[in-house]
Amino acid sequence: MPLPKDNDLKPGDTYTFEEGELYSICTCGFSKKLPFCDGSHKTEAPDCKSMKVEIKRSGFTKIY
Ligand code: FES
Repeated sequence: MPLPKDNDLKPGDTYTFEEGELYSICTCGFSKKLPFCDGSHKTEAPDCKSMKVEIKRSGFTKIY
């Protein structure tokens, strides 16, 4: 699953999601690559799981 190269995404930024890709979205809040899961939930919040999102059509979205 793709992850951004850096972790400087912040509210108001946009990110381009690629058609056909599967993204793992963080639901625990401990990821250092928010809004994407970086696996931190395994140690920081073991009861949490990321949310998998399959992109049907590419485009950008605003980060909130
Ligand atoms: S790091 Fe938060 S769900 Fe994986």
